[in-house]
Amino acid sequence: MTKFGTEHDGLKALIARFDPGDEAFIADPYPVLNDLREATPLFWNERSGQWTITRFKDVYETLRDRRLGRSYTHLFSHEQFGRPEPDSRWAAFHQHESWSLLCLEPPDHTRLRRLVAKVFTPKAVARLRPALEQISADLLDTCAALDDFDLLGDYAQPYSVAVICSMLGVASSDTQLLLEWSHAIVKMYELSTTEAVRVAANQAAAEYIDYTRALIADKRRNPDGLLVSELVRVEDEGDCLSEDEIISTTMVLLEAGHEATVNTLGNGVRAFMHRPDEWRRVVDRAVEPRTAVEEMLRWDSPLQLFERWVLEPGVEIGGQAIEVGQEVAMLFGAAARDPRRFIDPERFDVARGDPAHIGFGGGIHFCVGAPLAREEIEVSLAGLTARFPDLRLVEEPVRHPTFVIRGFTEIRLAAR
Ligand code: HEM
Repeated sequence: MTKFGTEHDGLKALIARFDPGDEAFIADPYPVLNDLREATPLFWNERSGQWTITRFKDVYETLRDRRLGRSYTHLFSHEQFGRPEPDSRWAAFHQHESWSLLCLEPPDHTRLRRLVAKVFTPKAVARLRPALEQISADLLDTCAALDDFDLLGDYAQPYSVAVICSMLGVASSDTQLLLEWSHAIVKMYELSTTEAVRVAANQAAAEYIDYTRALIADKRRNPDGLLVSELVRVEDEGDCLSEDEIISTTMVLLEAGHEATVNTLGNGVRAFMHRPDEWRRVVDRAVEPRTAVEEMLRWDSPLQLFERWVLEPGVEIGGQAIEVGQEVAMLFGAAARDPRRFIDPERFDVARGDPAHIGFGGGIHFCVGAPLAREEIEVSLAGLTARFPDLRLVEEPVRHPTFVIRGFTEIRLAAR
């Protein structure tokens, strides 16, 4: 197999700088991502055993290419793909995602997505707007009463979890528990994990499954018209969701439904704090919050890497043939700053308002929660700019030590 580019020493040295376990890289991966993208459309990452794609056009097309899938198990065995059987020690983790939309391909994906989409419509999201504004305003009241506040812990996390829980019909008293489980589980998606992280993720998944099973039983007895209750009830031409499907779906909505939203707000507000002129444009409503949301998603993506398996022969990316059974990784952060697609891509320009970025993916796995995420972030940005026109960083925030899920541990802000 030719490993595109690795024969060049310069490129080899550049690829070595792509180290998702390195704190300095995580703190600011963009110089490396930009250099990689300009040097090559894709490279072989020896550490992860993946072809890694850097440019917007290739990421955009790969997301839509049906010859690749998020999963291969609907067509091939693990042995055929030269992969180990799933480790039985992490059985609960694998069970929790086994019927997740993110782990399925057609025809199961098509059936499940149609059913989920039925109860997850843009219309339903629009109806939520007053509730979002109320949750946001209450939390901002609490923040305003403090000398300084943590945007993530005091606002974004409780906000986003409260929103998704109220949509699903989960008791607000349980939100902290769900938050902790979700934090533990999503660490499993990093490129490198420790044994302790895997144990904690599996334990969290097991507890989460038990919780969701009880929740579903409760909704069967006491339907409330909210999402979990509707998933229990929903029927499509005689088809319905099995309990395992409802468990996975509920959990993926809870997980996907807040981590990325929290980090989009955190990464975006931190970017604003370094560009007070851009903040002022939104404060003055020279740029609408809705418009600014798109740039927050593009400029410092909360999700930096997504993967696909090659399922059919004939796939070629950036001039490189990629064989069935190989895995590709798409670098969203590199693609989102591709000068072939965006004018002056390094600039955080809140008026750019370009919704056709890849922040929500593309193709059959396009983010089902995108309308909700946009609404949530818009309401937050509108509230923050209205309440705190002179908002500033108390100190430079510290990055969470993960690459794929990109965010901060806390972001301390003061109103003036
Ligand atoms: C700013 C916040 C968000 C971002 C940046 C984001 C991003 C993404 C991306 C990139 C994908 C595609 C993954 C792939 O192609 O491999 C995706 C899928 C998904 N997202 Fe989001 N998401 C966000 C918020 C949400 C919310 C609020 C929910 C639900 C309440 C949600 C639920 C999902 C689900 C269920 C999928 C899988 C869809 C499928 O496979 O058919 N996301 N998201």
